[in-house]
Amino acid sequence: MQKWWDEQHEKFNINGEKKYITGSALQSYLDFYQCSTQYAKAKTVFEIGIGTGRALREMENKDRYATDISEIAKERVKDITNVTDIPIKCIDIAFCNLVAQHVNDETLQEILKYGLASLKPTGILCMQFADAKASNIYSKELMLKGGILRNESQSAELVNQEGKIVFTTPKRYFNGGSVWWYGYHIRRK
Ligand SMILES: C[S@@+](CC[C@H](N)C(=O)[O-])C[C@H]1O[C@@H](n2cnc3c(N)ncnc32)[C@H](O)[C@@H]1O
Repeated sequence: MQKWWDEQHEKFNINGEKKYITGSALQSYLDFYQCSTQYAKAKTVFEIGIGTGRALREMENKDRYATDISEIAKERVKDITNVTDIPIKCIDIAFCNLVAQHVNDETLQEILKYGLASLKPTGILCMQFADAKASNIYSKELMLKGGILRNESQSAELVNQEGKIVFTTPKRYFNGGSVWWYGYHIRRK
């Protein structure tokens, strides 16, 4: 998987290929997760799965931490993150956006474990899920590379094994209403 993601990041560098390497704006995170208040108060932020690093770059005036499966992705944001290791218990707000559908259950549980371990007791992990109906927008290639789509109860069950969901965003519909996405605020148990 790591090799495959490195290849995607490399392609993005060379010819601007954006199929899998997205670069969402910080504002889109704040809007989707409805977490502007928590973000404004946050001193420390952590992003898991950084894509182009756009949102992370926009998180100015915060103490920024980041991780990604790809070394190329991490290299790209080295100038603005002060560690490459996964932080422990010092994070006010963590984001894991457009990543969950790319990983299997086991990896997602790992991400949840270290994402939640990174949080202060008052911190939140904002994580997005695509509903199984979204499968038509994902290529077979991605599924073969370990991606998985979960329905709402599967997602909630998995997340609740590791932490507690304290807020679920309203669903967002794409693709003529046939595809939906939602996000959770997750706290440590
Ligand atoms: C679709 S991009 C999302 C980027 C950004 N968060 C956004 O919303 O635009 C997925 C990112 O997750 C990373 N990724 C994939 N699997 C991962 C894993 N198991 N752990 C951490 N990062 C992962 C990829 O390398 C890529 O940078």
